[in-house]
Amino acid sequence: MPMMTVEPDGEKVPVKAGETILDAMYNSGYAYRIGCRRGGCAICKVDLLTGEVDYAKPVCDTVLTDQERAEGTCLSCRAVPRGDVTIRLRDERIRLTNAMLRQYRLAQYEKESS
Ligand code: FES
Repeated sequence: MPMMTVEPDGEKVPVKAGETILDAMYNSGYAYRIGCRRGGCAICKVDLLTGEVDYAKPVCDTVLTDQERAEGTCLSCRAVPRGDVTIRLRDERIRLTNAMLRQYRLAQYEKESS
């Protein structure tokens, strides 16, 4: 299971196969701003600092410019990490809303890694 590091806090969020960045955060008990969840509004943009992502589902052509893609901007609701990644939230800190989900996900990660 890949690990996602979320800056600016350095929080560790495991990512299951096929999960988007946003799904991984929500399924691990965190919240982040959200709009359409369909790659159309751009409210969920994050900066990809390390690693690579895929877009398994379509994204509106107008929400990410070529320059943004080149600079590592990605849509967290559609971007699926290929492996370990580091992202940076924009003007926001990661918010833990369900500590039990976080604990459960981290335990799954530890079990898979051992
Ligand atoms: S929530 Fe609208 S593009 Fe991601």
